[in-house]
Amino acid sequence: MTTKKVFVTKDIPAKGIQLLEEAGLEVVVHQGDSTLTEAELIEACKEADLLLNVGQLPITKSFLEASSHLQGIALASVGFDHVDLETATSLGIPVSNTPDVLSGATADVAFLLMLAVSRKAFFRSKEVMDGKWKGFGFTEELGIELNGKTLGILGLGRIGIEMAKKAKGAYNMDIIYHNRNRNTEAEEALDAKYVSFEELLAQSDVLSVHTNLSDETRHKFNKDAFAKMKSSAIFVNTARGAIHHEADLADALRDGQIWGAGLDVTDPEPMTADSPLLQMSNVCVLPHIGSATIETRTAMAEMAAKNLLAAWNNKQMPQIVNA
Ligand code: DGY
Repeated sequence: MTTKKVFVTKDIPAKGIQLLEEAGLEVVVHQGDSTLTEAELIEACKEADLLLNVGQLPITKSFLEASSHLQGIALASVGFDHVDLETATSLGIPVSNTPDVLSGATADVAFLLMLAVSRKAFFRSKEVMDGKWKGFGFTEELGIELNGKTLGILGLGRIGIEMAKKAKGAYNMDIIYHNRNRNTEAEEALDAKYVSFEELLAQSDVLSVHTNLSDETRHKFNKDAFAKMKSSAIFVNTARGAIHHEADLADALRDGQIWGAGLDVTDPEPMTADSPLLQMSNVCVLPHIGSATIETRTAMAEMAAKNLLAAWNNKQMPQIVNA
């Protein structure tokens, strides 16, 4: 029997590789920082039976058509907006993701951004690092407090719920949310109130995005939306960069339509170095580190490996997204 091969698009924690190798699979990991082009990915998968795709490397129609021999694709991410699921399904290729295991870590980053922006912490820290801090001041670059304020959540799913719990526990924030479908169980557990999108914009002191990217949510936070928010509001996005319109966000911050913004995701990634957002004291941009902890990345690698093992054994992947 020939050994089955797994191609992994970026290095992952050893535990994930170990699980695959212990099961007798040959694992080839793409080395280095470079992002694979579609042609390189097709070439790399010619000899592979299974694919472990790390991050947001696009899984396109043409890649899938050229790689229809694949027995399964495991994503090491919860999001799957970068995958042409329709084509994968039509070709009979199961695709899995990594839900739940990254919810706490990602909500931590949303919370970190909310707090850091509210106190302009990153900007102030940069002043110190750049040797520009002029000494203790009493009225310069003051922050705002979060206690008892209203946290609005777009997408009260697994990560949104974790963010709401943290905000409630730490600052007794009131929780309002908007979803396509109401989550009455979470409403009860968090004492959260369901509101329309318009109400979410108008009432949130902090508006945190936890929804997926789709045709419906692309550029949902644009000029019109920012104009309906409080001038004291903080916008936080740890979901996908294309959910907000970057130039409109920069205008809204410059014109004082909203107070601050914390972004873990941008469009494009990396953000261009000349973005006006990077010069603003009330903005913090992080390099998509929501799930970047040792514990979470290990759990994601393990979950992805287990999904591939299931596909290899002709069983349903436990976290399949195109069943
Ligand atoms: C996810 O899991 O979708 C994160 O954004 C990291 O890719």
